[in-house]
Amino acid sequence: MKLIGPFKQIITLDHLPIRGKISDEDLEIITAGGILIRDKKILKVGHFETLKSENPDAEIENIKGEKIALPAFVDSHTHICFGGNRAGDFAMRNAGKSYLEIAENGGGIWSSVLHTRKASEEELLKTLLERIDFQMSLGIAAIEIKSGYGLDLENELKMLRIIKKAQEKTSVTLIPTCLSAHLKPKDFKGNHEDYLNFILSEILPKVKEENLAKRVDIFIEKSAFQPEESKNFLLRAKDLGFEITVHADQFTPGSSRIAVEVGAISADHLEAISDEDIDFLAKSETAATALPGASLGLGEPFAPARKLLNSGAILAIASDWNPGSAPMGNLIAQASVLATYQKLSTAEVLAAITFRAAKALNLQDRGILKPEMKADFAVFNTDNFQDILYKQGSLKAEFVYINGILTY
Ligand code: NIG
Ligand code: FE
Repeated sequence: MKLIGPFKQIITLDHLPIRGKISDEDLEIITAGGILIRDKKILKVGHFETLKSENPDAEIENIKGEKIALPAFVDSHTHICFGGNRAGDFAMRNAGKSYLEIAENGGGIWSSVLHTRKASEEELLKTLLERIDFQMSLGIAAIEIKSGYGLDLENELKMLRIIKKAQEKTSVTLIPTCLSAHLKPKDFKGNHEDYLNFILSEILPKVKEENLAKRVDIFIEKSAFQPEESKNFLLRAKDLGFEITVHADQFTPGSSRIAVEVGAISADHLEAISDEDIDFLAKSETAATALPGASLGLGEPFAPARKLLNSGAILAIASDWNPGSAPMGNLIAQASVLATYQKLSTAEVLAAITFRAAKALNLQDRGILKPEMKADFAVFNTDNFQDILYKQGSLKAEFVYINGILTY
């Protein structure tokens, strides 16, 4: 048994609703707090001195200075396993080039596919671990990571196996997702339907056999996969036993509706969602994930997070860190900017990157500091939790505890 503290503030995120609006007055803040841990889990969160006298056997891990603790953050949507970079795309886009012109100049998702296919496993693993380390410096301890830059059997499996290898080297929880349906690869002989059938009959059985991912994603968009074929694909992936998540309503509306209809665990992007579909999504069990990093990378509008919350949605915020549309990778900076433009309370943002993001990944054991939860928490060198979003991503975590162990 171990007691960690004292903390100037512990923001537990306990006793908050899983969906809809939250005001900052609803946040539970324990001052002069301590976290009591046993077997990787939280036993109790409370006043440090009280916990100390109640548990004389507990080993004390003293926190010096005025620091705060809150649940470690969860980044529920990333593409951080990739080769090469797309700085050229970024510059061309800013200089006014269209998507088509960029693709014709060797850019776009396909260029990341070529770089990722070419990259050695060592190189991919090394850069992936570096990105995980950067995320840990922000206070993140669980990261979803998609395939989708392999787009053939060999390279999709290569990506997922590298994510599995990375998991052996980090205590950050990695949640792999198969995104073979990111795009129909240019070198595939056949139409969209043939490619989706190929994923279902060739890729997913192997993914299952090797236990490489439990989740399947698809990019539904004019330039990628169309609504009807996608729905059919998702229902069949579900039949194979996969959880579903969808890249939905990024540029054109309609696909978040499909996500809800197939019982997806989350619908992500939503920059172009219609008012009618906001309501449909908000009333469902499908989490609505805003990806402000993609809006910042592309110069597109932000997802209507305020409207989603007002309608009662389970709002998560994730980084979408990828080499093309969201190269920044700083979830805290992005969540803070989204809060400014969409008028979100601090409580709503913190919920969206902790227990609501955990819900979007079907992780029931984290995101709140309360008994029985995994003892994953981030410590910041400040006496006021509001500083985290106020500093817009420049305040890094001082420590990250994973399973109650000082990890970063
Ligand atoms: O989530 N929208 C599709 N996929 C990614 C972009 C990937 C890329 O551009 O490489 C996204 O934004
Ligand atoms: Fe994405």
